[in-house]
Amino acid sequence: MNQHARLDERPLPFIDLAAQRRRLGPAVDEAIARVLAHCQFIQGPEVAELESALADFCGARHAIACSSGTDALRLPLMAWGIGPGAAVICPAFTFCATAEVVALSGATPVLADVDASTFNIDPESCRRAVATAKKLGLTPRAIIPVDLFGLPADHDALAAIAAAHDLPLLDDAAQSFGASYKGRMLGSLARATATSFFPAKPLGCYGDGGAVFTDDDALAARIKSLRVHGEGVDKYDAVHVGLTARLDTVQAAILLEKLKIFPDEIVARNRVAARYAEGLADLAIVPRAGNESTSVWAQYTIRLAPPRRDALAAALKARGIPTAIYYAKPLNRQAAYRDCPVADGGLPVSERLAEEVISLPMHPYLDEVVQDRIIAAIRRALA
Ligand SMILES: Cc1ncc(COP(=O)(O)O)c(C=O)c1O
Repeated sequence: MNQHARLDERPLPFIDLAAQRRRLGPAVDEAIARVLAHCQFIQGPEVAELESALADFCGARHAIACSSGTDALRLPLMAWGIGPGAAVICPAFTFCATAEVVALSGATPVLADVDASTFNIDPESCRRAVATAKKLGLTPRAIIPVDLFGLPADHDALAAIAAAHDLPLLDDAAQSFGASYKGRMLGSLARATATSFFPAKPLGCYGDGGAVFTDDDALAARIKSLRVHGEGVDKYDAVHVGLTARLDTVQAAILLEKLKIFPDEIVARNRVAARYAEGLADLAIVPRAGNESTSVWAQYTIRLAPPRRDALAAALKARGIPTAIYYAKPLNRQAAYRDCPVADGGLPVSERLAEEVISLPMHPYLDEVVQDRIIAAIRRALA
């Protein structure tokens, strides 16, 4: 094997956080050093600064930083008093946290199917899930659509269902902060939107973090109280049963630096996605942002019918190219959620996607040479 061939087989990262670190240079170190100097580790000035920058970025009235994407989903459910006897509609094809927060509240997640082309909740199945919940004697209290892999769900259709049943939408934008739907950024569409700053997310910090977005002043005030043990005006006089769910000041300082390069990174992610589509569309089903949406490509997920999907994963692994299966099991196949009620019509699309999806390396620093190596390896494996 010559030197060139050996270089060509070097293991690649799935997401290259080190490349972003190099680009940021000393800015993050300096931001952390400022926090170490002022020592306001909890609710320091960077937290409020970040909240204001995030709200401006997506056009929401309020951004409330918190400890994780999961808590960002949990806080609005708590604020709305959702608990036993309630049903909350969620897609079956998502990360478990979407339904986990519902179950933790004591309410029942009712699973809806998804649309194969967007991976997101199918509005018709969502409508049926509301009816299923009622048939079971549950009170539908909210809908949680997910903007999976960075691509917005069909928010207009979902808003119409929510309005018809007088339900709030809690948008799970954990993977999709920075994406837009009909010219509006996620964060400004639903009654409340949750995002995650988990390091691998398009806008990630260096630990756990998240944020809730809303235009509702009363909801924002309640969530701010709930994230600090339900504190009242006097912090030692709790007015609600709450959580410790704040974002650390250090993480806010890091996110402020990352937010500066985020618009540019979104452009780069879209460039990478367009090159994948160009190189692979004749061999696999490639994802497309619709005319009305932009994606932040948290994942670049193609579809191949069995057994080609698993054969491709093995062939790429042998060549040092990592892939991931998000998600090998829809929620109804996972032990913790297998008893959840399912919308009439079942979950055939979620079941099929679980067998077909495979996510490729995707990050803003995937240069053309490396991406061409990945595309060539996929083409060879599928030939
Ligand atoms: C769709 C979805 N919802 C919620 C979460 C939870 O976010 P976190 O890990 O920050 O709690 C994630 C994280 O992976 C996610 O992908």
